[in-house]
Amino acid sequence: MKSLSVGASAMATALMLLLLLLPTSEAAISCSTVVSDLTPCLSYLRSGSGKPSVSCCSGVKKLAATATSTADLKTACNCIKTAAKQVNPNASAAQSLAGDCGVKLPFTVSTSTDCSKIG
Ligand SMILES: *[C@@H]1O[C@H](CO)[C@@H](O)[C@H](O)[C@H]1NC(C)=O
Repeated sequence: MKSLSVGASAMATALMLLLLLLPTSEAAISCSTVVSDLTPCLSYLRSGSGKPSVSCCSGVKKLAATATSTADLKTACNCIKTAAKQVNPNASAAQSLAGDCGVKLPFTVSTSTDCSKIG
């Protein structure tokens, strides 16, 4: 039992070190990049009708290609969440945006996304 708890605390220490080290790896993405990538999607997100435009999808694809690390994805997710509060997107359009563009994103464009669950 004793060795088990030692193992667990060593693990916790390692995990804490990892968490401390992670933010030092610079996220290669900024909110302004994320927002400008998704700006062509605004009309689609607001109306919720039709399909996203080509320029919208190329922005989504660019975003998906840029945000590859967990840190990038969390940053992008938080940026999008903040932006979505201003845009107030149609929820179903926001949900299907990445899929409509043939891209997989680990989060949806929504005001209620839990960005801490990424990773
Ligand atoms: C979102 O768009 C869909 C499809 O156009 C529409 O049926 C739905 O009513 C819209 N939802 C809101 C909240 O505007």
